[in-house]
Amino acid sequence: MATQYFPYKGVLFPCFDYSPETLSYVESQFQVRDDDIFNVTYPKSGTNWMLEILSLIRCDGDPSWVRSVLNWDRAPWIETKTGLATTLKYPPPRLLTSHLPLQLFPRSFQGSQAKVIYTLRSPKDVLTSLYHFSKALRLYKDPGPVDTFLQDFLSGSLPYGSWFDHVAGWLGLQGHKNFLCITYEELQQDPWDSVRRICHFLGKELSEQHISSVVENASFQTMRGNKMSNVSQLPDEYMDHSKGQLLRKGVCGDWKNLLSEEQSRCVDAEYREWMQALDITFPWD
Ligand code: A3P
Repeated sequence: MATQYFPYKGVLFPCFDYSPETLSYVESQFQVRDDDIFNVTYPKSGTNWMLEILSLIRCDGDPSWVRSVLNWDRAPWIETKTGLATTLKYPPPRLLTSHLPLQLFPRSFQGSQAKVIYTLRSPKDVLTSLYHFSKALRLYKDPGPVDTFLQDFLSGSLPYGSWFDHVAGWLGLQGHKNFLCITYEELQQDPWDSVRRICHFLGKELSEQHISSVVENASFQTMRGNKMSNVSQLPDEYMDHSKGQLLRKGVCGDWKNLLSEEQSRCVDAEYREWMQALDITFPWD
């Protein structure tokens, strides 16, 4: 497959399984329901981990659903052609996923009671994870040399645009009662407390035993061994499974194995510029 991107309102998307018509429909006509729950991220920020956590919370920690149904059917990506078709057939209450920046997210979200959980991760670890995953995911272009990929990351010349823009946009909803922001690093540091916070936000209090079951069944090792969650079932036209896997390392700070000190400083400088407007401190600061 020739890997090509097309721009939609200034943001790049893969040509395969995406189209301007679908993106336009999702933005302008898609009807958000009050009982929708959205798992929103910039790619490689812990999307599939959160998807697993939300699936397990929905089932009170019972792993039967995550062991029997593919993750993209449990919480489809609303903006892909395939994901939208699944979404439109999904019986409510819906669990949905999206990488869309806020400015392209369904307009009908505004004024709805739908809930968004926004998971973000240190930009240098996102860049690193994306660099490796881009070698395997056929929808994305080969990352090329690290220096070139770094420039693409900084300029937002990658699918879903700029990490900085994405994060700044979504974090503008901080304080909104239907918006919860959580970091990959918090999930790593204290998964039990993170799951408790998510449950509280969803208005679904689980027992300690059920919370432990959510944490254990969404752990890196368990997800890696679950073919419903590790994307090993993704057809070859989407992914070259010999070149990488979704559950690669699952650690914080792996950027140190990819970026030179100078490259790291470049990301830090861009980060500081974007983030000084937002009065928030993150675990990686
Ligand atoms: P690495 O490439 O750094 O290993 P996404 O789901 O947004 O595509 O993000 C994928 C990243 O999340 C990968 O990071 C993957 O290993 C990590 N990940 C997925 N599930 C995880 C889990 N249960 N625990 C820790 N990390 C997880």
